[in-house]
Amino acid sequence: MGQVAIVTGGTRGIGSAISKGLKEAGYTVAATYAGNVEKAEAFSAETGINVFKWDVSDPEACEKGVQQVSEELGDIEVLVNNAGITRDGWFHKMTYDDWSAVLRTNLDSMFTMTKPVIESMRARSSGRIINISSINGQKGQMGQTNYSAAKAGVIGFTKALAQETARKGVTVNCICPGYIDTDMVAAVPEKVLEGIIGQIPVGRLGKAEEIAGLVRYLTSPEAAFMTGAVLTINGAQYIANG
Ligand code: CAA
Ligand code: NAP
Repeated sequence: MGQVAIVTGGTRGIGSAISKGLKEAGYTVAATYAGNVEKAEAFSAETGINVFKWDVSDPEACEKGVQQVSEELGDIEVLVNNAGITRDGWFHKMTYDDWSAVLRTNLDSMFTMTKPVIESMRARSSGRIINISSINGQKGQMGQTNYSAAKAGVIGFTKALAQETARKGVTVNCICPGYIDTDMVAAVPEKVLEGIIGQIPVGRLGKAEEIAGLVRYLTSPEAAFMTGAVLTINGAQYIANG
């Protein structure tokens, strides 16, 4: 059995490509999901990857979930904090519920999921944490004050934790994907999405596998000196400096 990787939201979209990529690289993968049992079971049947259901915004569920994965599969070597949601709308019309749901799932999850794995990584002097932010956490996006705030927070969290864990052999990096062809992007109104694709110099949406390839690199021995990095993959839609 290979080293263990947890991929949150690892059953659909970008996460499913990451789960598959890490399995190919030899990891024993635990892919988590929130509630779409049908998709998760189909994913598990297709790939043979273990799936686990818990809400990344619930601290107690995360602690129990990580404990279950550790007991069943072994110590966690890689954590990919990928689970995320959108609740888009103009700020002047946004409810506190839409603000809070997005902040809890996309940002609080950095705490709730990283906390239960960090002591063991520090004790073993080994671990890779990869956080999925977004182009919209770098540049801001109209209709996404909640999501842009959460994803910018993920960048700050990554930079701070990377400094704390560097001497302990634990790397912490962050990927900022541009618009990737998944259900999340499919939910954007068609006319708006056409306009967005028009702003991408490469002329197309990204593919989930293009993000998964970078995650795989970040887990490789060659990436041991890369930590605290903010890595942009967006078809040149936004040229960011971190
Ligand atoms: N980029 C450029 N223009 C945008 C835009 C965007 N992302 N979002 C909205 N607009 C423009 C619309 O094209 C429209 O322009 P016109 O008046 O010239 O037609 C104007 O803003 C008003 O938009 P709507 O008519 O759609 O207004 P609405 O009140 O019905 O809806 C909205 C507002 C909910 C913000 C909706 O426009 C929307 O969902 N926009 C998409 C926001 C977005 O980019 N979400 C990304 C989701 S995917 C993701 O988040 C993954 C990731 O990390 C990249
Ligand atoms: P997606 O297709 O909507 O898949 C989301 C995954 O996250 C699903 O497995 C979902 O589980 C899980 N999830 C959602 N809320 C959860 C919760 N509270 N607890 C546990 N799991 C939860 O999304 P995606 O497009 O692949 O996006 C993946 C990540 O990349 C997100 O963080 C997103 O913000 C980020 N991102 C996406 C894009 C893009 O263009 N797609 C761009 C930049 C960044 P269920 O199946 O049970 O719902």
